[in-house]
Amino acid sequence: MSSETETDYHSKDFNWEELKQEIENDSSLRYHLLQSESTTSSPSQDSEAWTMFHTRHSTGKFFKERRYLLKEFPELISCGECSKVLEVGCGNGSTALPILRGRKNIIVYACDCSTEALERAKEMIDAVNVDLFKHRFHPFYCDFSVTGFPKWLACDSCRANIPQKGQGCISDVKENDGQHLNDMSLLTESNFCISGVDFVTLIFTLSAVPLNRMPTAVRECFSVLKPGGLLLFRDYGLYDMTMLRFEPEKRVGFREYMRSDGTRSYFFCLDTVRDLFVGAGFIELELEYCCVKSVNRRNGKSMRRVWVHGKFQKPLRNYSL
Ligand SMILES: C[S@@+](CC[C@H](N)C(=O)[O-])C[C@H]1O[C@@H](n2cnc3c(N)ncnc32)[C@H](O)[C@@H]1O
Repeated sequence: MSSETETDYHSKDFNWEELKQEIENDSSLRYHLLQSESTTSSPSQDSEAWTMFHTRHSTGKFFKERRYLLKEFPELISCGECSKVLEVGCGNGSTALPILRGRKNIIVYACDCSTEALERAKEMIDAVNVDLFKHRFHPFYCDFSVTGFPKWLACDSCRANIPQKGQGCISDVKENDGQHLNDMSLLTESNFCISGVDFVTLIFTLSAVPLNRMPTAVRECFSVLKPGGLLLFRDYGLYDMTMLRFEPEKRVGFREYMRSDGTRSYFFCLDTVRDLFVGAGFIELELEYCCVKSVNRRNGKSMRRVWVHGKFQKPLRNYSL
């Protein structure tokens, strides 16, 4: 999976257009360019594959905290106290932990379609042994591409951006002393809603969702954000070294692949990301390739990694699409 390090922050080690030319002129790689229909897998197959993945990588060794994240997305530090973040596809917590460290009193709601992943994330956050982190970290099960997010994150009137709050909406931690925001059982069993979140982070998660379910998944992220809220995106980019290593039989669609363990990976070009997010109603603030050259210490081979970095905002006003 991703092997980014802190030094990868906003790197421009090579020109993506030159890489594209090179790949598209290489006949041995032509099969990556062929148009093909997407082969879908069922949501339960997808989540089982991720559960197997997290079971296999259950040791702390596999855990790599994404320390560069706050440099890429400094808004996660400069935001107001008690801001709310929804980390989608939290895995073992590599994105949630730096966010919790970065801003005092920030609250992180973290979902995953694998209960095994949620267990790993809880263990990682507990292992840090900072009591306050535990109270600000709220993991929950959800496949956002199938069922969408629960109503306690944002009720129908919050999603429709209706100015008067619906009954039971809690917009600020100070209201009700924040007790509802921190008590997950109370939230899930009652009609309370936390009035949406200030940030949604989608870090190496959307690429795992089959292409045909991506538009719904992105619209769901839009619906639970507060007006003016930010969606922070980072994922695999087109012609990343890991894409070019897939054998022809691993292709399950155009730019879509399935690893031997059954987990899927899509490789994004900027236009696809733009179409998905702007199509859901977002304003594009930043969108670019991050191109990093690194050398494999064992064989001395140069590896060209490509990631997409994006920042999108939900408009302050409710425009009908
Ligand atoms: C590559 S990991 C990324 C984890 C984390 N965001 C990070 O920064 O390290 C992708 C995670 O997304 C989860 N996932 C994949 N499809 C999902 C879906 N449809 N709904 C929720 N989680 C999903 C997987 O279980 C996995 O834990």
